[in-house]
Amino acid sequence: MSHPRSDPLRVGVIGTGAMGRDHIATLDRYVARARVTAVHDRATELADKVAAPVGARVLATPDALIDAEDVDAVLVCSPDPTHLELVLHCLEAGVPVLCEKPLAVTADGTAQVVAAETALAQRRGGGRLVQVGFMRRYDPAYVELKRDVHDGSQGDPVLLHCVHRNPSNHTGMTPEQVVGNAMVHELDIARWLLEDEVVSVSTRTVRRGGTWQPGDPVVAWLDTAAGALVEVEVFVNAGYGYDVRCEAVGSTGRSALPDLVGPDFQTRFADAYRLELQQWTEAVLAGEPTGPSAWDGHRATVVATACVESLRTGRPVEVPTEPRPALYA
Ligand SMILES: NC(=O)c1ccc[n+]([C@@H]2O[C@H](COP(=O)([O-])OP(=O)(O)OC[C@H]3O[C@@H](n4cnc5c(N)ncnc54)[C@H](O)[C@@H]3O)[C@@H](O)[C@H]2O)c1
Repeated sequence: MSHPRSDPLRVGVIGTGAMGRDHIATLDRYVARARVTAVHDRATELADKVAAPVGARVLATPDALIDAEDVDAVLVCSPDPTHLELVLHCLEAGVPVLCEKPLAVTADGTAQVVAAETALAQRRGGGRLVQVGFMRRYDPAYVELKRDVHDGSQGDPVLLHCVHRNPSNHTGMTPEQVVGNAMVHELDIARWLLEDEVVSVSTRTVRRGGTWQPGDPVVAWLDTAAGALVEVEVFVNAGYGYDVRCEAVGSTGRSALPDLVGPDFQTRFADAYRLELQQWTEAVLAGEPTGPSAWDGHRATVVATACVESLRTGRPVEVPTEPRPALYA
């Protein structure tokens, strides 16, 4: 069962690959009110390497970490298919969890998290425990862009052009994985930036020589409830750098992210990860997380599922609407 949280917050990290290592370093350097006390990775030698420098211990299983007496909150940084079971375990244990995106790989899975968190909050009379790692919402340039979209200076939102390009040679990813793992960031940012819901989608891949070449771009068009159109390009094999762009066009003006091409996601979004972890820590210590919720994680995966269905059928797909549970009002 859950135990009282200490200050500084004692954080356990599951998964010490690229993302886990980056979060551990950020917590250690920049988050004064958090301490990494425990880590677990299926590859124990990776956990061993990161644990000693921050004074954490290595635990043999994710279950042992979630239930540990010296863990107040958990960061899930293991591969996408592991997220659902780990987050459900955190909920059962009453432990706050920041889960990397996506919250789960299917919309059924993300719905299970929403149902479990909602039932727990009703039973305990408490609030949220889950936050999803949509860290772009903390990026200062995205925050400024959102201010521009809503301050009246550019009229009503009409179009959003989103571009997500990775430098590396991700030739192992299927178009479905590009949508579920990478495009999901854009699907969340469109909802957040426009404060609107996606109601239908149309998705295509590039087909060089008449066929999909692994790593080639996937492009989606999203219609929102208010009538804006969002165009999304995800190109995980762009070669030249890590390049995330977003232009918001309104009925009387436009604004865009600055040109910030970098070598990798860790460099481009360093401030966003730091602010995400600082604000998550403060919010958990104050009672409950306030960042992107299980509901946000669920809706992003519902839209991603529709995008995959559109890829499969070659047709536009309606996105199912659902009432937002009161916990996420
Ligand atoms: N928010 C972002 O911008 C962002 C960026 C990159 C990755 N991510 C997410 O972070 C997660 C990790 O991605 P990554 O790039 O660090 O991958 P990675 O492959 O570098 O690291 C994953 C780690 O998890 C370990 N692992 C595998 N199965 C495990 C299990 N069952 N239990 C515990 N550990 C296990 C692996 O040994 C590896 O060390 C993914 O869900 C990914 O989508 C998010």
